[in-house]
Amino acid sequence: MKIGYVQTSPIFGEITQNFDQIESLVGNSKADFIVLPELFATGYTFISKEEAASMAENTEGKTSEFLMRIAKRTGAVVVGGFIEKDGNHIFNSSMIVSDSEVLGTYRKLHLYYKENKWFSPGNKPLEIYKVKDTRVGIMICFDWFFPETIRSLTLLGAEIIAHPANLVLPYCQKAMITRCLINRVFAITSNRIGNEARGEDNFTFTGGSQITSFNGEVLSTAPKDKPYIDFVEIEITQARDKNLNKYNNVISDRRIEFYSLE
Ligand code: ACM
Repeated sequence: MKIGYVQTSPIFGEITQNFDQIESLVGNSKADFIVLPELFATGYTFISKEEAASMAENTEGKTSEFLMRIAKRTGAVVVGGFIEKDGNHIFNSSMIVSDSEVLGTYRKLHLYYKENKWFSPGNKPLEIYKVKDTRVGIMICFDWFFPETIRSLTLLGAEIIAHPANLVLPYCQKAMITRCLINRVFAITSNRIGNEARGEDNFTFTGGSQITSFNGEVLSTAPKDKPYIDFVEIEITQARDKNLNKYNNVISDRRIEFYSLE
């Protein structure tokens, strides 16, 4: 199975230009599964809820059309971030699409910093999507800080974690090695690069998009400061075998009667 990511440098509010950058990076690439960054079309550093809401869409907007166009062109199922509108609420979401339909959306559960001012926290259960012969789960950026997210996706059956990101802290790429190792899942962290200085905030995004293997090996690393696209071939059955060795299984060895997650 061929999986990959596109690392971009979005310009705040320039949706068409941000789409064009991805189309030119993708070129004639073919793959099974592709992950784009969090909020790849709009940018990240909003200065008010109204500003974020003005760029919100449902699953029948220009971002879903764009993602389906990329799916058609590449043959891949595609995941990418957008601002999702639902009644009076907006969510920091990711959409998963095939070439002909939106398969679903994931609403970020753990909001970072001022995202708490603009977005409502995710209010839908974690879900697993069938992609070709595998099962994928989605989490967004800061969700990595809460290991319950990827563990829950693993227990629900995810074999690949799609992880759109706009990372500003330097820890995630290293942490994903442990996250993948202890769950024996693959993860695609698709990050952005560049700087956004807006209002009181000045963020530099860390790039370094990464594909991490079920055994903690890093299969692909993007540069910290350049747009980039990469794909790797994986053997998905490796994520189905939860045995670490003859005597240890990372799922059934858990002593859940001794854990309290309250
Ligand atoms: C983040 O969650 N985008 C830092």
